[in-house]
Amino acid sequence: MPTSLEQLARAAAIDAFGDSPTVVAQAPARVELLGNHTDHNGGLVLAAAIDRYTVVVGRASEGRQAAVRSTNLRGVEAFTIDELAPGEQGAWGQYVRGVTWALGENDGPLRSGFEAALAGDVPLGAGLSSSASLQAAFAMFLIAAGVIPDLTPDLDDDARMALAKTLRRSENAFVGVASGLLDQFSCLFGRAGHALTLDCRSLAYDRLPLGDPAPAIIVVDSATSRRLADGMYNVRRAECEAVVKHFQERKGADRVRTLRDITLDELLSDWDTLDEAPRLRARHVLTENDRVVQGADALRAGDVVEFGRLMLASHASSRDDFQNSSPALDALIDSAQVSPGFLGGKLSGAGWAGCTVNLVQHGCAEEFSKAVVDAYTKRTGLTPIVHICHAADGAWGRAG
Ligand code: GLA
Repeated sequence: MPTSLEQLARAAAIDAFGDSPTVVAQAPARVELLGNHTDHNGGLVLAAAIDRYTVVVGRASEGRQAAVRSTNLRGVEAFTIDELAPGEQGAWGQYVRGVTWALGENDGPLRSGFEAALAGDVPLGAGLSSSASLQAAFAMFLIAAGVIPDLTPDLDDDARMALAKTLRRSENAFVGVASGLLDQFSCLFGRAGHALTLDCRSLAYDRLPLGDPAPAIIVVDSATSRRLADGMYNVRRAECEAVVKHFQERKGADRVRTLRDITLDELLSDWDTLDEAPRLRARHVLTENDRVVQGADALRAGDVVEFGRLMLASHASSRDDFQNSSPALDALIDSAQVSPGFLGGKLSGAGWAGCTVNLVQHGCAEEFSKAVVDAYTKRTGLTPIVHICHAADGAWGRAG
């Protein structure tokens, strides 16, 4: 039997700290099925948590010291829980410190320090929210270990939404990435066999069955790195905000707070007075919001063919209007389109590199995967990595 993530994490905890863990927590990764770059524009998203996980094990400790060991990434992060302040971007330790900091600020004061070890099988930097999965698993660990006063791991949905917001704050304010709520929401609200919708303005959400039998969710990693694109997320945010500012000047700041307050007709009537890049970005966001509404309707009607069509339209809009695709991602979608069982596919997450997410007819997963690898390799010379996934439950933590 292969070693589970929990076994790996337990072995790492015992190796690093000597003591056996008393708590285990887990959070899934997520795919974005529709609603690309809508979350930071007050828009609509449609996502699913998937069965790739971060697992955290450990225990509360005496005193105010914390130590966290990762099995995938080198080193032990050690810090004093009362001396955390926002700092450098990106490294996994920043996420661990950021979650500790944000929960301390929001739900503290923290009761004690802790020792923890984590293991995961979420591909890193591939658009599957490895960082939100880490955040959610780590938060559930802190809660289950009793480090956070008044919170217990049997969180209802209101408490999960509050936690999602705290985790977003930790990423925005501590790590310095201006992301929306999509990732943390998905990792916390996932349900096996279901997609998730979220209105990022009202925070209304729903869990929609993907079908019975559900189509496969196949993530294909383009084998291209996204390091070069790290700054592009904030550039796109600024371009969207330029359009908001344009309409605020014409219609008033109380009427227009985000792109959600502008209709496609209003955008098109001001088209010639807007700069090229910002107006294209805004058109993508507004048409994506519509596709989420249509996609949710399609799922309610059990129409996965229509849902797949919307995913392809979403990818085309990312490629042409938001311009966050890449030749490799486009080649991967072209390859998927000629593979058996393909219903639809698009880039997942921020974009520019990383993964595509494909919906594939039930029973065709293996055949599809083989064909997409062959076609993509022929086109690009690169070997993609295929992850056959299923929609999964959200984060949990418990004694163990
Ligand atoms: C990244 C961010 C999300 C979202 C997507 C694009 O994954 O973390 O908040 O903005 O990009 O939809």
